[in-house]
Amino acid sequence: MKYSIEELKSIIKELMSEKRYNHSVMVMEEAGKYVEKYKKGDSSFYEKTIRAALMHDIAKEMSEKEIEEYIKDNNIKLDISNSINKPLIHGIIGADKCTKLYDFDEEMGQSIRWHTTGSTNMSLMDKIVFLADKTGRTNLSPKLVEIRNKAFENLDEGIYLYINNNMEKLKTKGIPINPISIDVQKYFYDKIKKI
Ligand SMILES: [Fe+2]
Ligand SMILES: [Fe+2]
Repeated sequence: MKYSIEELKSIIKELMSEKRYNHSVMVMEEAGKYVEKYKKGDSSFYEKTIRAALMHDIAKEMSEKEIEEYIKDNNIKLDISNSINKPLIHGIIGADKCTKLYDFDEEMGQSIRWHTTGSTNMSLMDKIVFLADKTGRTNLSPKLVEIRNKAFENLDEGIYLYINNNMEKLKTKGIPINPISIDVQKYFYDKIKKI
């Protein structure tokens, strides 16, 4: 890999708060544990996955103005409306940045792109980065501990449990649900029903 972990760490350190930097490092470590469980011994997959996990929030602290400029300068096509896309934008820009600047391949870029909502076409790397972002944290709530335990038994069930729980939370708070999440929930529901 062209960039070492240490090099990538110092790149993101400049771009984000200490809190988010620490989060990024924890997500990387958590992703390493999932790889250990689900693709042990594949060092290339390991190196790629931990880099994607470390860099997943590279665009999270960009200002609205920076986002607007980045989208314009890089000719980024947003296929759905901006408001719906809000939680997705930092994934889309993060993926674009990492593939253009830090030698990420398409697989790595894709797992950054979908790390917030998940998608109905997730690779193993996508699933690991998605879950590591949610479970690679200190002081996990009992629900997240349950999700983490489930995810270490079965990734799809872990994702389903997380999405379901998250949608319940949004509903009680009256926050509108992203249509992508509804599709993803249905997709994983159908998938785990077959287990
Ligand atoms: Fe994020
Ligand atoms: Fe994150």
